[in-house]
Amino acid sequence: MAKKDYSNLTKDQLLEVIEKLEGKKKYGLVWDEERVPEKVVTDCQDKLPVLTEVKDKEITTDENEPTHILIEGDNYHALSVLNYTHKGKVDLIYIDPPYNTGKANEWKYNDKYVDENDTYSHSKWASFMFKRLSLAKDLLKDTGVILISIDDNEQAHLKLICDDVFGSNNFVANIIWRGGKRNAAKFISTSHEYIIFYGKSLETISKLKISWKVRKSGLEDIYKQYEKLKKQHKTDYEIITKELKKWFKELAPDNPAKDHEHYSTVDERGIYFPDNISRGGGGGPKWPLKNPNTGNFVKIPSRGWAFSKEEDLIKAVEENRVHFSGDGVPCIKSYLKDKETQILDTIFYKDRRAASTKFKDILGDGVFDFPKDHEVISYFIDALSPTNAIILDFFAGSGTTGHSVLELNKNGAKRQFILATNNEGNICTEVTHPRLEKVINGYTGVKTNTTYNGLGGNLKYYKTSFVANNRNKDQLKIDITKRCTEMLCLKEGIFNLIKDEADYKIFHQGNRYLAVYYDFANASLDELKEEMNTLKGEKVLYCFTVDTNGLDKANFSDWKNIRLEPIPQKILDVYKRIFKN
Ligand SMILES: C[S@@+](CC[C@H](N)C(=O)[O-])C[C@H]1O[C@@H](n2cnc3c(N)ncnc32)[C@H](O)[C@@H]1O
Repeated sequence: MAKKDYSNLTKDQLLEVIEKLEGKKKYGLVWDEERVPEKVVTDCQDKLPVLTEVKDKEITTDENEPTHILIEGDNYHALSVLNYTHKGKVDLIYIDPPYNTGKANEWKYNDKYVDENDTYSHSKWASFMFKRLSLAKDLLKDTGVILISIDDNEQAHLKLICDDVFGSNNFVANIIWRGGKRNAAKFISTSHEYIIFYGKSLETISKLKISWKVRKSGLEDIYKQYEKLKKQHKTDYEIITKELKKWFKELAPDNPAKDHEHYSTVDERGIYFPDNISRGGGGGPKWPLKNPNTGNFVKIPSRGWAFSKEEDLIKAVEENRVHFSGDGVPCIKSYLKDKETQILDTIFYKDRRAASTKFKDILGDGVFDFPKDHEVISYFIDALSPTNAIILDFFAGSGTTGHSVLELNKNGAKRQFILATNNEGNICTEVTHPRLEKVINGYTGVKTNTTYNGLGGNLKYYKTSFVANNRNKDQLKIDITKRCTEMLCLKEGIFNLIKDEADYKIFHQGNRYLAVYYDFANASLDELKEEMNTLKGEKVLYCFTVDTNGLDKANFSDWKNIRLEPIPQKILDVYKRIFKN
């Protein structure tokens, strides 16, 4: 980069340069932010994003199931819209952004692919990600989390960007996904990539005692074998134990059930592991204890019993919860059914090729090269979010995160996904939407001919579009009000149109109603009032006003049980904060 010539600057100009340099941060990642401004960002000075529904891409199966959202457009615009509709509402964000590998045709900045010859590629990427992550942060609940897939090309930079955006105190882990060896590697086989994991507020998560647990894998196989042995050998626990130990020994080392081999002893309560009965750290009581089977005193653990009261130890023996082996130190029985979950680990293995195989069975060859594995994404969503969570992916690509949520909902969960992706190479229209459509409605495997039943759910498809940022503020308010209906439906989660008049619309979802009134108050507002007053359920009215103070509640005193929301000032306030215009 050529050095700047400061010799001709005036004193005031030099002072400005010094002030700017002094104001720069001293720690963390710095990059050349202003060198190449991003067009999708600067565009927002002249036009404001809204959503337009693409009605013929809607998928409806059952109104009682969640309505998922797919937004086609640049995610900077999608995230700006979501800052009005979903501020503080999202439970989990998973993204898999372009890794900025320098390879041709990987990602675009200002409509141009960024490749290895671009000297500003890291600055562009940092700027691109910082802007989007900053918008995404405000969408998370205080208990929310964000997971970001990345590899060595940008991992170190992304960590610093995330420290900046989310706070280093909210860093949870840099998870390592081992995906299999690449023998064609130049120097060394890099067999892993990362998932960077932050909480919105770890303080809140700790205060609420939220713990992230996953069901151990391989349990189903163990229980199946146990049931089989029980059928064969009834209550002969000794032989069941012997057979179960034999079964564990014969398992392949990479079988997930093998990890639980120590749970191989059986009694009338089930499968258990003879666990340590001594006081952790030592200093436990040393009451004498007899083995009820031999009548002999057993060896007392050198650290003393884990129990604080002798009667509890005696009760455990009477209830057959203590495992004796001769006169040695006994053990406490730790049952598998009480230990089915575990906390997450920072390293896991999942062959990266498996995802492509599964993907090709949905849409065939040559459609999308590197989908993520929906089982991996499901695993994290399941462990880290409640069953009614809102899950967001704003680099949705082929829609893997949506697929993961649909799979999880199969078991009764009601999570909702919001996906955003651009339509580069027609990905949204020709890959994401068809994939979701197949998974929701069911399909026959392209490769395997297997019949996959539809997983159900509903989908709304929106495109980002724009309203000219009219310098006449009142005209802008009128223009944006006419175009904000989809945003209001999305904000309220109420989508089904039941009344479509020139001045107003009414939507419903279950027993919830949304009315939007678009005009300066006139006779039709009374008509709308009559209609709304006859409806029973939760009701909200979004009503147009140019008054920046909102609506005069006195004018709505005879509306029954209705929440009032003025439009569009709150939308404009959000855009003013983001676009600073
Ligand atoms: C690595 S892929 C994500 C793949 C995805 N996880 C999957 O399993 O299919 C990143 C995707 O982000 C999309 N993308 C890139 N820049 C974007 C932008 N500014 N706005 C919206 N989507 C973008 C690209 O179209 C690309 O498909």
